[in-house]
Amino acid sequence: MIDSPSLVVRNIGALVTGEMRDGDALGVVDDAVLVASGSLLTYAGSSARARFSPMSADVVDIDARGATVIPGFVDAHTHLTWLGDRGGEYAARAEGVTYEEIARRGGGIRSTVRATAAGSVEQIARAAAARARRMQEHGTTTVEVKSGYGLELSAELRQLDAAIAIGDDEELPDVIATYLPLHAPAEGDREALLTEVCERGVREASTRARFCDVFCEEGAYTVDECRRVLVAARAAGLEPKLHAEQRTRSGGAQLAAALRATSADHLEHATDDDLRGLAVARVTGVILPGAALVLGGPPPPGGRILDAGATVAVATDCNPGTCYSESMPLMISLAVAGCGLTPAQALLAATSGGAAALGLRDRGVLRAGLRCDAVILHSRSWLDVAYHLGANPAATVIRAGLVVAGGDPVVEDGEAAPSRPSG
Ligand code: NIG
Ligand code: FE
Repeated sequence: MIDSPSLVVRNIGALVTGEMRDGDALGVVDDAVLVASGSLLTYAGSSARARFSPMSADVVDIDARGATVIPGFVDAHTHLTWLGDRGGEYAARAEGVTYEEIARRGGGIRSTVRATAAGSVEQIARAAAARARRMQEHGTTTVEVKSGYGLELSAELRQLDAAIAIGDDEELPDVIATYLPLHAPAEGDREALLTEVCERGVREASTRARFCDVFCEEGAYTVDECRRVLVAARAAGLEPKLHAEQRTRSGGAQLAAALRATSADHLEHATDDDLRGLAVARVTGVILPGAALVLGGPPPPGGRILDAGATVAVATDCNPGTCYSESMPLMISLAVAGCGLTPAQALLAATSGGAAALGLRDRGVLRAGLRCDAVILHSRSWLDVAYHLGANPAATVIRAGLVVAGGDPVVEDGEAAPSRPSG
């Protein structure tokens, strides 16, 4: 017995399932239908083979008018829950002041800590909700949200509670919360901070978050400090993630491999050996092309992560210092323009790659039995997601089987993408 549908999307010109099919990495099915019952897909495939039980009047029935449908984006690295504004720093950097110099003067992450730590859960959640809504309008259906702007434990926990409030809001993306206790440089007694994180922080965060992340970097935290916290975090039930090799080669990627972390993120200064180590340990490499563009320095190693045999994800890093952007489509474009990924590889990095970077097996591809998180594009061509720079390609966003953004798809004139993309 097939469950009765609650949502049907018909007349899909091309369905990007995201699963390898006949040598096509994107698994494109032409002339397709999506059917969901509740939050899950019951069918994702060709309309000729679609079978579903009779439709009742309350089924949401969407005509995609020949548009392309892709999986919802999984944005696997963001610092969404901040208060304050660092536009002035952005302008100062354009005049030649470096990120590190700003941090030495007490600005940078520390200035966001001052603004955020003073805020209530409600204030932080309100600021983050506006950003989360923009993410969803651009096709993001799942977003990872880090703390890291609290420093002091109760302020870190307020950030996590704000992240949970976003996830609990049915109108906003699904949230995976990450405790990021080692981010802003410690202001007082470093040992006291580490002890508190290891003894109380990870335990209290473990009821709120799925991951623990650390900023392993010169001027932030050392490999030994990061190892100590991540080992304690795992014992408390939080899986490790690392900011690694962002501004210098810090040793974070090797630590990620040694700990079999879920992901290592940034990686601009990682060597090919570092990346092979991630592949062997099955650590997903997350590239953050927006932050790399804003800060300058070497390009994120998207193509090199794949060459090393590891899974690659692309994410926004949405934060007030290095990348104020909610747009996964823009990150996909930047991953193609500057990080060595093909458009197909970049699209997969933003969907199934993002799910891998969060250890999620129930999303990132469109397959019966998984979550119905999908985006109907304005276009007949999935290539436009990468090719049309800075535009919003999302016409209709569906999360857990419900339409959460956009309206009826209006398909622009244009050709369908070649049905067998390379890569
Ligand atoms: O991912 N690298 C450290 N953290 C952020 C930046 C945070 C900030 O500048 O506020 C990043 O780039
Ligand atoms: Fe980050």
